[in-house]
Amino acid sequence: MHFDTFSSALATLDVDCIAVSVHEDSDAGAGAAELDKACGGAISRLLKRGDFAGRVGETLLLAELQGVKATRVLLVGQGSRAGISRKSWRRAVASAVGAASRTQTKSLAIALTRPAAAELDDYHAGRALAEVAGHTLYRVNDLKSGKKPKAPALTSVLLGPLREKNAAAAAKGLKDGAAITIGARTLRDLANLPGNVCTPTHLAERAKSLGQHYRKLKVTVLDEPAIRKEKMGCFLSVTAGSDQPPKFIVMEYRGAAARQAPIVLVGKGVTFDTGGISLKDPGGMDEMKFDMTGAASVLGAMHVVCELGLKLNVVGLVPACENMPNGAATKPGDIVTSAAGLTVEVLNTDAEGRLILCDALHYARRFSPAAVIDIATLTGAIVVSLGAHHSGVFANNDALAHDLVKSGINADDRAWHMPQGEEYGEQLKSNFADFANVGGRDGGACTAASFLAKFASGLNWAHIDIAGSAYLGGANKGATGRPIGLLSDFLIRRAAAR
Ligand code: BES
Ligand code: MN
Ligand code: ZN
Repeated sequence: MHFDTFSSALATLDVDCIAVSVHEDSDAGAGAAELDKACGGAISRLLKRGDFAGRVGETLLLAELQGVKATRVLLVGQGSRAGISRKSWRRAVASAVGAASRTQTKSLAIALTRPAAAELDDYHAGRALAEVAGHTLYRVNDLKSGKKPKAPALTSVLLGPLREKNAAAAAKGLKDGAAITIGARTLRDLANLPGNVCTPTHLAERAKSLGQHYRKLKVTVLDEPAIRKEKMGCFLSVTAGSDQPPKFIVMEYRGAAARQAPIVLVGKGVTFDTGGISLKDPGGMDEMKFDMTGAASVLGAMHVVCELGLKLNVVGLVPACENMPNGAATKPGDIVTSAAGLTVEVLNTDAEGRLILCDALHYARRFSPAAVIDIATLTGAIVVSLGAHHSGVFANNDALAHDLVKSGINADDRAWHMPQGEEYGEQLKSNFADFANVGGRDGGACTAASFLAKFASGLNWAHIDIAGSAYLGGANKGATGRPIGLLSDFLIRRAAAR
C-alpha cells in the first residue's frame, strides 16, 4: 500500500475516490461543502432530501459528480460535530477505507473532518491513517478450501488537504504507520494460525526468515540441548509433556553503536496451552492457540524496527513451546530449577507462561539492557480486571510503566498501570521450594507479575499482560494486532530520544 499526502483543491484531485464527512442531521463537513460548490449543489440537495443522515459508520457512494475530477465521492457519516474525536475520526477512516475497498477504487483521498491538532496532530494523523487502513484491509490468512475472494483494488491512500508546513509531519506519520501495519500483519498472521501449524519450529522459521530479509537483524535459535545447557529448568518443565521440540529464539537488531544498551523484548510463545496436567476446561480451549501472541508481538515489533531502520539496538527473545499433558509432563508439586538458580514448586501446570518467561528474563541479563519488556497472554485475571480495552502494565520502575502507558495513548492502543510489589510476591510462598508458581485467585494478574519481578531484580523491567487485548473471541474471533501500536510508539520515541 502506498500512502501520501495531498494539497490540491478537492474538485481537481486526480484520484478514483474522495472520502468526505457528513455530520449528524445531514450537516456537510468542510470537504463535502467544498465539493458541493464545485458540483453545483448536488450534495446539499441530496442532504436536504434527508437521504444521508451522517450517522457514524454510514457511507454513501456518489458517482461522476459534475465539476469533480474524481470518479467517486464517498460520503462518510462521522456523527455529531461536537463529538469529533480521535476515535470518531479513526472510525470514519475505517468506514471510508472499507467502503472504497468494496469498489474498484485504486486511489483514495481521505478528506474527513479531523479533530483539533491538540488531540491529533499531523504526525499522529498520518500514522493512525496508515494503521487504520492496514487494519481494515487485513484479511485472515484462513485455510478455507474455496476460492479466495479477490484482493481489493485499493493501492494508494492519501491524506489531506494539507498545507506544505503540515505535510512533512503527516508524511512522516504515514511512513511510520505503514511500517507498523507491516508488523501488525506479521503479528496477526502468526497469532491466527492454528496450533498444529504455528508450532515452536514454525515461529523459529518465521524469525529466521526475517533475519534473512534484513541485514541488521541476526537471528539465532537455541534447540533443546542448547536450552538445557542454559539450565532453563523452568522453561523445560513446561515443554516436558509435548512432542513438539521447544525453541528459544534470539533476534538481535543492531541499529546503533554496539556500546549502546539495547531494549530487550521478551514474548511468551506458548503455541498451545492445554494447561498441562492441570488441564483446562474444554470450552473455548481452541483460543489457547493465541497463547503465543506475546511472541508474535515481538516478531511484529522487530519487523517494524527493521522496516524503519530505527537507530536503536533491540533484542527480541522468544521462549517457544507447547503446554501439553503426557506421561513425561510436569506434575503439580514438582520442583524445578530456573536458569537463575531459584527453585520453583509447580503447584499448577497451567501457570506456565511465567515459567518460560522467568528463564528468558534471566537470559536477557547478558545484554546489559537499558530496559526489558515482556509481553504475554499471561493471566485470565487481567481479563477479569481490564476486559479487552486495556492491556495491563506492571513494572519495577514507575517511569518505565508511565512511558508505556503514554505510548498506549499515542497509539490508541491503551494500557493501564497495574500495581506491583512485594506484598503480592508473598502470596507465592512454598514450603518446599524458593516459591510456588501460583499465589491463589486473589490479585491473580498481580501475583503473576510479582513472580516475574523476582527474576527481574536489578533490571529496568516491565511486563505487559495482553490476555484480554490480544485477540477477540466469538463471531469476530481473531488476533487484534495489539499491542503492536504501543510497542512501535515506544521504540520510535526511544530512537528519537537518542
Ligand atoms: N494462557 C493462560 C492465560 C489466559 C487466560 C490467556 C485466558 C487468555 C485468556 C495462562 O497460561 C493461564 O492458564 N493462566 C492461569 C493461571 C492460573 C492457573 C494461576 C489463569 O489465568 O487461569
Ligand atoms: Mn496456562
Ligand atoms: Zn498460557
